[in-house]
Amino acid sequence: NKIINFDKLDSTNQQAKKLALEGASNGTVVIAEEQTAGKGRRGKMWVSPPGTGIWMSAILRPSVMPENASMLTLVAGLAVCKAVREITNLEASIKWPNDIVVNGKKICGLLTEMNSEIDFINFVVVGIGINVNIEKFPPELDNIATSLMIEGNQSYQRKKLVKRTLEIFEDYYKKYLATEDLTKIIEEYNEHCINIGRKVRVTGRKQDITGNVKCVTNKGELIVTDQQGEDIVVTSGEVSV
Ligand code: BTN
Repeated sequence: NKIINFDKLDSTNQQAKKLALEGASNGTVVIAEEQTAGKGRRGKMWVSPPGTGIWMSAILRPSVMPENASMLTLVAGLAVCKAVREITNLEASIKWPNDIVVNGKKICGLLTEMNSEIDFINFVVVGIGINVNIEKFPPELDNIATSLMIEGNQSYQRKKLVKRTLEIFEDYYKKYLATEDLTKIIEEYNEHCINIGRKVRVTGRKQDITGNVKCVTNKGELIVTDQQGEDIVVTSGEVSV
């Protein structure tokens, strides 16, 4: 693993994409102490103050491009979840598809981007943002975001968490590429997923769905049993618990 550290970047995902286009190798990881334009999903900003979080992006060049790059995000999310549990003893869970939550609030978000413009330079950038030693969030985020420090009442070594996260991720990633079978990994994902057995509302579709979450499939879809007892396959849209 080649890790490239920066003091300040607009966004580690941006930097990683740039480096990937310039030929950076598989497994290269970009880390910044601070992001001035951290990117969240759906065009949102990701608050990334200096020295308090893990803002990093991994460049992956799978020999066989997974038809669904979002599977890599699920695998990365599971890695973060396990590493956080190991290092902090906090009860971290995955909120499908790729938020990591502690006590119902988000401590980590993942943003995967891939290049589709240039056919033969293929890469995926998996961006991981973990709120580690952030003391306080702006009021508009206070209800939905938290940090390991706030939840655990202590600070944590970011280096340790980076190391474990990358180790676990690499391990899963290799298994995934070797077997192209996600059954085992998804079993574990399900064990760590907070939505299972709980009521959800799926919005952002033609019709909103209310139901109970059954499981996450090998393809990363969420199976929701609706009020008529039918299983609905959810591949996109938003889930609110
Ligand atoms: C989300 O909206 O939940 C995704 C947040 C992803 C944030 C991380 S921080 C490191 C990487 N660089 C970015 O600009 N975004 C991701």
